[in-house]
Amino acid sequence: MTTSRIVGFYNLPLGQRLKKLAEASGLTTEEIIAFQVSGLTMAQADHMVENAIGTFALPLGIGLNFIVNGRELLIPMAIEEPSVIAGASFMAKLVRAGGGFNTTTTEPEMIGQMQVLDIQDLFSASVKLLEQKPQLLAEANTIDPVLMKSGGGARDLEIRIIEDSPIGPFLVVHLIYDVRDAMGANAVNTACEKLAPRVEQITGGRVHLRILSNLADRRLAKAQCTVPLNELGFTDADGRVFTGGQVRDGIIEAWALAAVDPYRAATHNKGIMNGVDAVIIATGNDWRAIEAGAHAYAASDGRYTSLSIWGKDKNGNLTGEVEMPMAVGIIGGATKVNPTAIAALKLLGVKTASELAGIIVSVGLAQNLAALRALATEGIQRGHMSLHARQVAITAGATGVLIEKVAAQMIAEKTVRIDRAEEILKSFQ
Ligand code: MEV
Repeated sequence: MTTSRIVGFYNLPLGQRLKKLAEASGLTTEEIIAFQVSGLTMAQADHMVENAIGTFALPLGIGLNFIVNGRELLIPMAIEEPSVIAGASFMAKLVRAGGGFNTTTTEPEMIGQMQVLDIQDLFSASVKLLEQKPQLLAEANTIDPVLMKSGGGARDLEIRIIEDSPIGPFLVVHLIYDVRDAMGANAVNTACEKLAPRVEQITGGRVHLRILSNLADRRLAKAQCTVPLNELGFTDADGRVFTGGQVRDGIIEAWALAAVDPYRAATHNKGIMNGVDAVIIATGNDWRAIEAGAHAYAASDGRYTSLSIWGKDKNGNLTGEVEMPMAVGIIGGATKVNPTAIAALKLLGVKTASELAGIIVSVGLAQNLAALRALATEGIQRGHMSLHARQVAITAGATGVLIEKVAAQMIAEKTVRIDRAEEILKSFQ
């Protein structure tokens, strides 16, 4: 990848855009075509789910201007919502002026849970399990030789005594499993199911649930960025001037509400997930798992709060960071079946799942910044309006050049409504 800064990409006709993408990325024609056809064939879909009758398409766009850990990146984003890709690209441009996003990740360790019931003495059962830890881990390591070969495997066993529950006390055993470049659900679930009879033997109890936890808080990804103060000021379409300091402070004030108030934090985090999910979906990963992990992590201190933190450095520049569980894979599942996901991963050029995790949280942070900047200044609706107006025009029946004409008139009138779109369309016909 030469640069992720492709000036005027938005205004190019579709064919030109694909040409630019091929030039910048070095992807082959087949790979570029995979972005155009709707990914899965019917036969592939039929092998993936039960009762398949079709496939479901989403728009796929490119997030521009990203630099993550010094690498120029074009980001594939699958999402139906207008403004998300433009917002992320614009913020990535501001962030690149501050050196781009920097990311860190923990080891790709997932947690598998075994719920052990019907134990008389929970404490001595825990001790017995801990005494047998090396043997249990060794047994877990026989399950997936491929994962072992790539450096993964069982890392630890943790025992939690649950004193109080609706059915009384019980034990929970956590199997910590390094899944390397897999999402890991299959490996972890298989390991838990395999270990369960041994756990029953050792404890004298009954293993009930054996399943991965989506609160993957040992598999975290963090992104940080700095936006130079002089990049933040702007004049809006109504001629209102916002200085860099006003925008920065407005963003920090907006974040403060999310930090203390779950009602705002839910929406704030939704903005982060707009960016996160778009890349998760484009790369064929499990967005429900990521959503579950993100929101559980946001509440892990007992009160639901913001996943990101915004502040300023000693020079007055805006600083941001986000951290969340990021259980993504680059091997297995849809990442290796769906041709669009394969091409998306190729475009990102990632060699490990951890690298992908870092990119995804960077996009989440960019998206969060886009939303906060808009909310703290001109409001969110202006950015949404132009694409939204086009959608309303299409719904009203506009086609071809009439889509733009109807949309432009509605924006000029500041009335984007289906009834007005129908009237304007009639006046043009
Ligand atoms: C809309 O999809 C997302 C936002 O509501 C996020 C936010 O409020 O921070 C704009």
